[in-house]
Amino acid sequence: MLQKVISEEEQERTPYKYVPQARNVDVLFYEDQKSAGNYADVVDHDDDIVIENFDGPVIRMQKWEEAELETQLLINIKERSKYGRPRKIQAAAIPFILDQFDIKSQGETGSGKTGAFLIPIIDCCMKAKKATNEDRFESEAAAPYAVIIAPTRELVMQVYEQAVKFAADTGINIAKCYGKYDIGINHREICDGCDLLVATPGRLKQFITVGEVRVKKLKFLVLDEADRLLDSDFLDDIKNIVGVAGFPDKEKRQTLLFSATFPAHVMSAADEILKPCAVFITNRRNNPNKRIKQDFVIVENQGKLDKLCEILKSEAEKVGGTDKMRRTLVFVNTKRMSDLAALFLCQRGIPATSINGDRGQHLREQALSEFRSHKVAVLCATDVCARGIDVKELDHVINMDFPADADTYIHRIGRTGRIAQGYSTTFIEEFGEMVKQFLKH
Ligand SMILES: Nc1ncnc2c1ncn2[C@@H]1O[C@H](COP(=O)(O)OP(=O)(O)OP(=O)(O)O)[C@@H](O)[C@H]1O
Ligand SMILES: [Mg+2]
Repeated sequence: MLQKVISEEEQERTPYKYVPQARNVDVLFYEDQKSAGNYADVVDHDDDIVIENFDGPVIRMQKWEEAELETQLLINIKERSKYGRPRKIQAAAIPFILDQFDIKSQGETGSGKTGAFLIPIIDCCMKAKKATNEDRFESEAAAPYAVIIAPTRELVMQVYEQAVKFAADTGINIAKCYGKYDIGINHREICDGCDLLVATPGRLKQFITVGEVRVKKLKFLVLDEADRLLDSDFLDDIKNIVGVAGFPDKEKRQTLLFSATFPAHVMSAADEILKPCAVFITNRRNNPNKRIKQDFVIVENQGKLDKLCEILKSEAEKVGGTDKMRRTLVFVNTKRMSDLAALFLCQRGIPATSINGDRGQHLREQALSEFRSHKVAVLCATDVCARGIDVKELDHVINMDFPADADTYIHRIGRTGRIAQGYSTTFIEEFGEMVKQFLKH
């Protein structure tokens, strides 16, 4: 028995010298091309955007051509990714970024914020490489032009892949760094070229403090899921990163903050890293994406696993098998329960896997990859998956446990309904105030 326990633990541990595997760029373009039908009119259903803290004339791009992007970048966006038109947050944010403004940008989950910062940064980097004046940027080992910080390793990988996709054949190098990635090999990746570096706060702080990432050439600092990064868990790391000797101060860099939620308590930390003239680009809503049809089911605590299984089994029966079921992400509040729920479902004939902070990094990434590639229909997750993760054709989110707060609810259910209608089911013990508030929207 002891032998078995040890070997299971070992299997869960991230292997020595772990190196994450990103998907090939052709796979990424193909994934977008398959979604082209939904992409075509996605912008028509995006939230409207208003601009605050800016008095001048506002430009909203109707077409990509208006941004005068570099040719290869434009090809990657329009022809290879099938992004026909800029989404509303992109139409509003990109002109400000290209005009060198700092921005704080709030758009609903799935509204295209990743492209809103990656596209103008890649364009600026391409133009800076061609410049002949003081704006000229020459690639140098481990000295990024832009650093993009995100709160989880899986989100770093996803933003990294998107950056690689937009930058394909442009000559711009993209690198990533995050915990559990073998540190020596990770350092080598950064030395091989990192015009854009996508990072978690911990690993980035480590590399910057010892001088293995040099910040002297840095022009852009991006915080994706900015409110999470400026909240208590990560704030010290962010302060340490921007406070490291030689880090360009806010007047000398462009700082871009993005999230679907900006609670009041993070605003002063945001103001500390932004220039006073930063523009606020916002949908003025701290609410779930309108594309999600929200449902609430009263379930007693002890009956949750059975109810979860019943919902999924009856769906499988209705559609003619688990392979035809909607792809479903199940959120729970503890790491143990995410493993337990996946096991419970598997034992009852529903292919499921789990992702949580206790699993080895290889197993975390494998679980997400199996879910993305339709190998399993159900992923049981903790909040490690609540923010930013974009899985195509993820149609249903189930909150088996009620989330800790309203913002977490918005992000969790926001994993669906991103480019098409999505559905969420939340188990509750009673119709409390938070539930009533969400039902109004
Ligand atoms: N201009 C566009 N046209 C069509 N589809 C787009 C466009 N821009 C982005 N998308 C698609 O929209 C989806 C959501 O984009 P993204 O992940 O950037 O959302 P987000 O706003 O960052 O969401 P979250 O708040 O959950 O992080 C992706 O599948 C992406 O491919
Ligand atoms: Mg995002």
